[in-house]
Amino acid sequence: ELLYTTRGIVDLEEKVRVKLGIDRVLITPGNLEEDEYVLEDLGKIAGKLIEKLAKDNTIIGVTGGTTMAAVGKKIPRQSKHKGIMVVPARGGLGREVENQANTISAEMARQLNADYRLLHASDTLGEKALESILQDPEIKEVIGIIKSADLLVFGIGRADKMAQRRELPDETVKKLERLKAVSEAFGYYFNRNGEIVHETNSIGIKFQEFQQIPNAIGVAGGVGKVEAILAISHLKKNMTLVTDEAAALEILKNS
Ligand code: G3H
Repeated sequence: ELLYTTRGIVDLEEKVRVKLGIDRVLITPGNLEEDEYVLEDLGKIAGKLIEKLAKDNTIIGVTGGTTMAAVGKKIPRQSKHKGIMVVPARGGLGREVENQANTISAEMARQLNADYRLLHASDTLGEKALESILQDPEIKEVIGIIKSADLLVFGIGRADKMAQRRELPDETVKKLERLKAVSEAFGYYFNRNGEIVHETNSIGIKFQEFQQIPNAIGVAGGVGKVEAILAISHLKKNMTLVTDEAAALEILKNS
């Protein structure tokens, strides 16, 4: 049963934090898979945290997806801090403009009174095309900014769903199944232990850069994403997870 009380949620946050062994867990009441407003609340919580962490000259990297789109829409306005920069941490993916890292970066920048850059590249390029586009001065500049990000805000996807969204070839889908991939984030696929089992030609942030980034906020809700969340929580202990109550309760059940 779901808890729905503030006190209960605070207790739940602490239990999940200890279970995952990460720095911070923030939970919104409810079940994102049953109530569409829970996604908005998830966005609100993540948005508030971003606003709190953003100081003068903070560089914020953001990924895409429906969860991150909700974050972009719900981030509060700020004008105290100057020189904030928002950059997409990966290239374009899928067909919806509102779910692109570019769009979300622009929306966040507007709210934060910040500057932003666009990454004019697809996240699903072939190896040769990726190599050549990385020579482009404008792309190089954006990639350089991503590398120096202070804060990364990223969506966590299920491996199977993200394989579909990335339109991966059948043989790669089979490989992911064979290697028990459960999670995807910024172009990498992970098994339950958080080991990389597959890497796409994503143009954005690299795994080592992710591990070195001082602050990271992973945003994902819904029971269906629990395995994906568990995998990611092995990767970076100094991260924050923003999730919903239903996923949180499921995480505690999981051994
Ligand atoms: O890049 C996509 C995210 O990892 C997950 O996407 O928020 O639409 O589930 P989603």
